[in-house]
Amino acid sequence: MVTALAACGGENGAGGSQPDDGKITLGFAQVGAESGWRTANTKSIQDSAKAAGIDLQFSDAQQKQENQIKAIRSYITQKVDVIAFSPVVESGWDTVLKEAKDAKIPVILTDRAIDSPDTTLYKTFIGSDFVLEGKKAGEWLVGEYQGKPEPVNIVELQGTTGSAPANDRKSGFADVIKADPKFKIVASQTGEFTRAKGKEVMDAFLKANKDIDVLYAHNDDMGLGAIEAIEGAGLKPGVDIKIITVDAVKDGMQALADGKINYIVECSPLLGPQLMELVEKVVAGESVPERVLTEETAFNQEQAKAALPNRQY
Ligand code: AHR
Repeated sequence: MVTALAACGGENGAGGSQPDDGKITLGFAQVGAESGWRTANTKSIQDSAKAAGIDLQFSDAQQKQENQIKAIRSYITQKVDVIAFSPVVESGWDTVLKEAKDAKIPVILTDRAIDSPDTTLYKTFIGSDFVLEGKKAGEWLVGEYQGKPEPVNIVELQGTTGSAPANDRKSGFADVIKADPKFKIVASQTGEFTRAKGKEVMDAFLKANKDIDVLYAHNDDMGLGAIEAIEGAGLKPGVDIKIITVDAVKDGMQALADGKINYIVECSPLLGPQLMELVEKVVAGESVPERVLTEETAFNQEQAKAALPNRQY
């Protein structure tokens, strides 16, 4: 059974203890529905729970940490077997995770990390290497401008402030481009991983900066919003302003195939099947690796054209 609990922030899914039907109950506290990536991630988790015969208690925190904390507390009250969540930001989880530990409910971090030094607060962390994603974006840029000595003015649309993907994609990219001083980040601001905010912030970037050569957006949705702003300003995305994004969801891949984006670093949202395997192992008392890394690639325009027909999300 799949239960959607907290579609709006106020509900937290608090209830009684779990039915004794022999099934594992997993409480999952999702970040929200901010992007195409997140929608695909939610579907993967819901479909995989169903396929594995796991009772899923699902909540949507609408990008608010307090809602995620409320949902985790409700799962503790319900005495679920396992709690998994994708932390909206890196900091501020110790108290609620200690409550889960005291209640002897194992926790699995999914997609995003937390910055607590106490790794006993969770059993494992499954997700991407966001620093590597930022590095891949930087490496493509360095290759693209090889042998061209002129300055390259970059604007950056960051993900949710304080989130692991925003912090790590920023630092991975900066680490690579700092080797050549011709690369200059002239503006960097959050677009909150959403299309609407990506457009709004890109509009402001275009007004404040005359010569933008490159946009680096921490996800496809912000890049797609920025494309609207660039076209609105009478410029050609992918040509007048080169665009690098992260995720590789269908809409992003279509824009890449259409020449409006130049390069996409893949971040797979299909974490559901591996998450369910980890849940089963944790409940069975089997050991699990501390870190489960997702395998990913990157796409240029030709590769996007080839991959699009079989893209699942
Ligand atoms: O944590 C993964 C990131 O969250 C995705 O790259 C982004 O699209 C989503 O909102």
